[in-house]
Amino acid sequence: MTVKTAVKTAVVTGASKGIGLAVTRFLEEDGFRVVGAARTVTPELKEASSLAVSVDLATPQGPAELIRQAHGAFGSVDVLVNNVGAFSPRTSGFAAIDDIEWQHTFELNFFGVVRTVRAALPHLVASQGSIVNVSSARARGPQPPTVDYGAAKAALTNLSKALSMELGPKGVRVNTVSPGPTRTPAWTDADGFGAGLAAAAGKSLEEFLEGFPGMAGLTTGRLTEPEEVAEVVRMLASGRTRAVNGADFVIDGGQLKTV
Ligand SMILES: NC(=O)c1ccc[n+]([C@@H]2O[C@H](COP(=O)([O-])OP(=O)(O)OC[C@H]3O[C@@H](n4cnc5c(N)ncnc54)[C@H](OP(=O)(O)O)[C@@H]3O)[C@@H](O)[C@H]2O)c1
Repeated sequence: MTVKTAVKTAVVTGASKGIGLAVTRFLEEDGFRVVGAARTVTPELKEASSLAVSVDLATPQGPAELIRQAHGAFGSVDVLVNNVGAFSPRTSGFAAIDDIEWQHTFELNFFGVVRTVRAALPHLVASQGSIVNVSSARARGPQPPTVDYGAAKAALTNLSKALSMELGPKGVRVNTVSPGPTRTPAWTDADGFGAGLAAAAGKSLEEFLEGFPGMAGLTTGRLTEPEEVAEVVRMLASGRTRAVNGADFVIDGGQLKTV
């Protein structure tokens, strides 16, 4: 059944935890009906969103299925937050990353966004909506342990700019946020990226996370909190910043050292 009201609909990918969950909570607070997507629908996502969709966005058909369900439920897509993304800890160098790993990294971090935008575009043009892509500070400041991820995010930041140029005149804004190290399950889970780096450094996860901000040059002296990234997404998703199009907001605790 399609429900049509004046309430706007936001689709948030990677919404079950971390930055995506914080974005989902803030957009619901701001009056959006949020359709949140992840492979696993966590109790937190179910509670925070108007509709939780279980979908694998690294598959060719996943993104279109998500948009079909969102539009089918609420009759519009006004905001699309492409937040899904992931990095793997790599202690080996470039030569050890095979084609399958490169392809998987690009399927999730880049092609998933290409396909989601393609599926949502007619609805976004109809609603004069807005896209926010969650890239990474690694798009501008590459590092060898995340070489494939950084390349995929650089492609995503580049794509966002080109889309903003094509879609701006059609009434759809496209902006990017580029977080640096942010305290999400990717860093804090026992089997996450942070745990892999801690093990490689011969430290406990707690000890590693304590020393990481100084070691990584975060001038704030701490990891960013997911809500600090979500605040900027919330601003870009709102109608209050309609002059902002094609921008990239770096939220990295001062880690990047170039202008
Ligand atoms: N945290 C950081 O330090 C950091 C830094 C720079 C950029 N970022 C970017 O910020 C975004 C969010 O990161 P995060 O740290 O909040 O991530 P996270 O805590 O690891 O959460 C990732 C989210 O994506 C979902 N997901 C993963 N693979 C998926 C798939 N194939 N299909 C559908 N959903 C999938 C996860 O749920 P399921 O596993 O259940 O699918 C989860 O909801 C990502 O784009 C990331 O690259 C993060």
